[in-house]
Amino acid sequence: MSSTIPPSGSGELVSLELRNIVQEYPMPAGESAGSKSDRIRVVDDVSVKFDRPGIVMLLGPSGCGKSTLLRMMGGVRPMGVKTPTSGEVFIDGVLSTEAHDDVVMVFQRYANRPDLSARDNIAFPFRLKLWRRKVSREDAKARVDAMIESVGLGAHADLRPAQLSGGQNQRVALARALVLRPRILLMDEPFGALDAQTREEMQRLLSDLYRSQPCLIVFVTHDVTEALVLGDRVIVLSGQPARIADDFEISEPRPRSSAWQRSSETQALEERILATLHGAGGSRGQVRVTV
Ligand SMILES: Nc1ncnc2c1ncn2[C@@H]1O[C@H](COP(=O)(O)OP(=O)(O)O)[C@@H](O)[C@H]1O
Ligand SMILES: [Mg+2]
Repeated sequence: MSSTIPPSGSGELVSLELRNIVQEYPMPAGESAGSKSDRIRVVDDVSVKFDRPGIVMLLGPSGCGKSTLLRMMGGVRPMGVKTPTSGEVFIDGVLSTEAHDDVVMVFQRYANRPDLSARDNIAFPFRLKLWRRKVSREDAKARVDAMIESVGLGAHADLRPAQLSGGQNQRVALARALVLRPRILLMDEPFGALDAQTREEMQRLLSDLYRSQPCLIVFVTHDVTEALVLGDRVIVLSGQPARIADDFEISEPRPRSSAWQRSSETQALEERILATLHGAGGSRGQVRVTV
């Protein structure tokens, strides 16, 4: 299926590093009464380095600061807040303070344009000057055609978002990101709003697409099962303020069978994660187990 996409040429060379990241936000109105500070620390001294293609899962309870960290990696700055409060992000060893051409983001709300067909949504980045300069019209068209097939939207390419299901809309968003062949793909709970069966289909699709187009994927989730099914590496964040509470690799090849998911090895990993989160103040937010 995904064999139509040529491998990304630069997939092997990539590095993304967070160094001593701290993020504080103003305390929400009403909550600072009686407290020493009017700021709340959401991320506390996070340092981590990803230095090769792979799927890295950033797992933590909801509200712990995952999106904050991911936005920072993507150079996306919320209005009116210094981001990060302190610390640095490096891409390929170079200090990164704004959006980077090789980094693309996918969100839970797929951000598809309602007035455009699936095909035109996927082709949309090639309307932008940056991508028109980098990719010829013919190449862009060939990439879009191949990507539509790779994500299984061949029969739906002319439909608009309102005519597509949630899973199909997320396929459009994923295709729009991958058609750019990013070296770094940042995904913020992309399958979090989908039903269980569709979520599993999308996890399977992502692992197929990854195989034909390897890159560094940083994938945020609060779903323990999703982290274990997809991750080459799993980074567990504690509840607010987010700190790295655990960091381990999973060598089992994808797609990971249901037998592997039920195995004692996997159960032990799941228990390890849940114990870490309990021991690290994880009760301040929810994590989910979907097995
Ligand atoms: N721009 C912002 N201004 C103020 N507070 C924010 C902002 N963005 C996030 N927060 C707060 O920071 C905390 C972590 O948010 P977030 O990074 O979205 O967590 P997660 O993605 O893990 O659910 C939450 O308490 C949230 O309300
Ligand atoms: Mg979030």
